[in-house]
Amino acid sequence: MRSLSLGGSAAAALLVGLSAAAPYKPHGPQGPRYIVNQERADAVKEAFQVSWDGYYKHAFPHDSLRPVTNEHEDDRNGWGASAVDAFSTALVMEKWDVINQILEYIPKINFDKTETEVSLFETTIRYLGGLVSAFDLITGPLRDSIDQTPDVEAVLSQAKRLADNLKVGFDTPSGVPDNNLYFNPPRRKGSTTNSIATIGTLVLEWTRLSDLTNDTEYAELAQNAESYLLDPQPALGEPFPGLLGTNVRLEDGEFVDSNGGWGGGTDSFYEYLIKMYLYDPERFPEYRDRWIAAADSSIEHLVSHPTTRPELTFLAMWRGKELRFVSQHLACFNGGNFILGGLTLNEPAYTEFGLALVNGCHETYTGTATGIGPESFAWQDTARPLNASNNPPAPRDQAAFYDDAGFWITSGSYVLRPEVIESYYYAYRATGDVKYQEWAWDAFERVNETCRVGSGYSSIKDVNQPDGGGFHNFQESFWFAEVLKYSYLIHAEDAPWQVKADHTNEFVFNTEAHPVRVAAGRETLKR
Ligand SMILES: *[C@@H]1O[C@H](CO)[C@@H](O)[C@H](O)[C@H]1NC(C)=O
Ligand SMILES: *[C@@H]1O[C@H](CO)[C@@H](O)[C@H](O)[C@H]1NC(C)=O
Ligand SMILES: *[C@@H]1O[C@H](CO)[C@@H](O)[C@H](O)[C@H]1NC(C)=O
Repeated sequence: MRSLSLGGSAAAALLVGLSAAAPYKPHGPQGPRYIVNQERADAVKEAFQVSWDGYYKHAFPHDSLRPVTNEHEDDRNGWGASAVDAFSTALVMEKWDVINQILEYIPKINFDKTETEVSLFETTIRYLGGLVSAFDLITGPLRDSIDQTPDVEAVLSQAKRLADNLKVGFDTPSGVPDNNLYFNPPRRKGSTTNSIATIGTLVLEWTRLSDLTNDTEYAELAQNAESYLLDPQPALGEPFPGLLGTNVRLEDGEFVDSNGGWGGGTDSFYEYLIKMYLYDPERFPEYRDRWIAAADSSIEHLVSHPTTRPELTFLAMWRGKELRFVSQHLACFNGGNFILGGLTLNEPAYTEFGLALVNGCHETYTGTATGIGPESFAWQDTARPLNASNNPPAPRDQAAFYDDAGFWITSGSYVLRPEVIESYYYAYRATGDVKYQEWAWDAFERVNETCRVGSGYSSIKDVNQPDGGGFHNFQESFWFAEVLKYSYLIHAEDAPWQVKADHTNEFVFNTEAHPVRVAAGRETLKR
């Protein structure tokens, strides 16, 4: 049992941050009751089928669909990224025709060959995560629904083959991996640094692969790399306790800057700390401790409220100890991550704080013309001097928007990202409050209205133009893996892969929303 970890000033900051929010009451031992909304779940499945049909007809087995022109793009090495990323979503939706199409395809992928540069991180979270998750689902809760043919074994052997090609990335003086690789033969590009997100978001997938294959090498490589992030050196790498810089030298594992946040480049390093503890509390207590340090420091140092909407809570980013009052759609996973931390550690204060962050990100959706939140945004902080150089006012052309919305837009695109709906999903699973189902449904309807075009769904250019300001003509593979999965699960019936609030989790989601079976098969933590 752990004692309450929030220090006095963190607790005080928390109270200020939550003054406007309704208090969160932890549910009883049975967890909240969930409401199934079959009509909505079916509507999301329909959107999945439309997206899949467009991809399958016009792009498969290439990576991604360009839905406006019915063309394809190989943006992820040409191994069929959308098919692999769609796999676990098709499985949890139990869409058998699609499952069979993908299952038949997996053994045919040639993971030894690609013409283009390979990202260790992207390949891990999309392909390796997708394969390992599908294997866990097919050999676990869906075991009786799927013929256990040789194609099923191929899902795991293909994951191993891919990792065997990727592992050259770790062949650096420190073992901190090079994110940039080439294949055939596998080799490093020769980068000198890597970021904490792309170093620290391998450990779940690579550890799971070791646990499934009984070959410890994958886990050892990823955990050795992570060890430099758990004990950051030198001191400049940790400007606040548990909150780190971004870039690490491959030569010696030392940090080269003090700039960070919960956004791109750093985000999922923090996310995986608590997820590894949920995956296996026996092996990863240190990861838990580092998540707690990061969470407490965030509450103590990063909480920020916009001058025009002081009831909203955002987390600032930092340059050394100087804060920057900016955030991103990517960072909106943080609400869900605090909620998961609160559930896992029996600390309602983290859950309550997470719900306040979810509320802030919800406002970034309701504030725009499309009802979809922007790629990045900024605000002026209430607690710091309004003439401070790091606390500028809204640009003149967005002053009126800022008055109403509590943020202004610094990049207006929407590239089919999941993080806001992802956090609604955790909020719903933690509380059972149907408000979060309504928010998720509203977001899904707005995305459906604005992004549906041609043979699928496309990224858009400007969330603050009623029509989305035009299309990028690109359907990201994570549309299948993440947006459609979370939009579906929040309305769907309970199932072994759903996030649980009563310590009965059987799965933990990787950062690409692929559910990975926890090490013991079922959560071993207790209230
Ligand atoms: C790994 O070891 C476990 C326990 O010894 C065994 O049940 C399992 O079949 C092994 N898996 C593989 C892929 O060898
Ligand atoms: C901000 O305003 C205060 C009070 O008017 C003044 O004392 C301070 O020097 C100003 N700071 C900057 C950075 O201009
Ligand atoms: C999504 O958009 C399509 C095409 O406009 C429409 O037919 C469908 O009803 C929409 N679905 C939802 C859930 O709004």
